[in-house]
Amino acid sequence: MELRDKFGRKISYLRLAVTDRCNLRCQYCMPAKGIDIVDRKELLSYKEMYRITRVLSELGVNKVRLTGGEPFVRKDFVNFLESLSFNDKLDEINITTNGALISNYIDKLEALNINAINLSIDSLHKEKFATITRRDVFENVFDTFQKLEKSKLKLKLNVVVQSGFNTDEIIDFVELSKEKDIAVRFIEEMPFNGKGQRDMAELWDFNKIINHIKNHFPEVESVISKKSSTSKNYKIPNYKGTFGIIPAFTRTICNDCNRIRITATGMFKNCLFDGGVFNVRDFIRNGASDDELKELFIKTVHHKPENGFIAEANRGNDISESMSTIGG
Ligand code: GTP
Ligand code: 5AD
Ligand code: SF4
Repeated sequence: MELRDKFGRKISYLRLAVTDRCNLRCQYCMPAKGIDIVDRKELLSYKEMYRITRVLSELGVNKVRLTGGEPFVRKDFVNFLESLSFNDKLDEINITTNGALISNYIDKLEALNINAINLSIDSLHKEKFATITRRDVFENVFDTFQKLEKSKLKLKLNVVVQSGFNTDEIIDFVELSKEKDIAVRFIEEMPFNGKGQRDMAELWDFNKIINHIKNHFPEVESVISKKSSTSKNYKIPNYKGTFGIIPAFTRTICNDCNRIRITATGMFKNCLFDGGVFNVRDFIRNGASDDELKELFIKTVHHKPENGFIAEANRGNDISESMSTIGG
């Protein structure tokens, strides 16, 4: 038994949001105020998340990424990681985090054999960082960055490219890969900011980003990546690390998509851009057996939309969700 859609794509990667809460308020993700925080009992419990992950791993999911909101905001998150680490069907347990709360947990994450951390960091300047995140945590995040870089955890930096905010830092971010064995990834901004569409006329898309970098570094080389990689990756010859670009909004990666998502309240999403197919939590709380869950997952994945544009067109309402409720 496996998860395969009608286009032949095999699903092996679960993105699981453990909370919708976040300690920061990034402009591109959430409005400053007026966010509806979900009642605690509507969230999947760790026990439910453990079970969902186990059932999916029995259907061929071998990579899990824990997201949020900010996963470390949820109480006992590290204990949950520990329980997941006993599932030997999982080859990779990864975390996407803003890093502000984790500098004391790095040894523990290493001990649990967490594979990789994707750290969101959109500016290397304290004041700009505070403008983007609406919080004064640059030092904490930078401290985490330095500790992670020295740890044995693989490290990717996620930089959401925001016209007029941080495009002047793209080259500085590439330069970070000179001495550091890290992967810097530039992400096209998407309209998941809780307010609806941004002025996408200003979108720094894949081509604009790579042309900007190639103007500065004509010697850029391509790096071979996994087929299902969200980023197309590059390197400057003799630099220790790499950089990549994620066409999150222009969606040129859909042919090789291997991902499903489950939000913090249990909504199953076949695509980042779909509105949610069914609520796993409700099925579990109504007594669904493992076999029933499996059948549901197999059937649902079969109908995964061909790409993010079709998913968006099918949803029938505007994208005004916050990324914190989807999990990225
Ligand atoms: P790796 O597993 O390390 O490659 O990470 P990832 O890129 O899958 O995950 P991460 O949480 O670091 O996400 C980085 C950016 O890519 C975020 O803006 C995500 O929303 C975006 N992203 C991740 N998966 C998808 C996807 O399936 N489709 C689209 N359009 N964007 C995605
Ligand atoms: N557009 C692109 N990326 C986003 N992220 C959050 N909101 C957006 C958005 N509107 C990124 C975060 C994090 C990852 C999970 O998604 O920066 O790195
Ligand atoms: Fe997969 Fe949807 Fe992302 Fe395309 S937009 S890569 S189909 S999740």
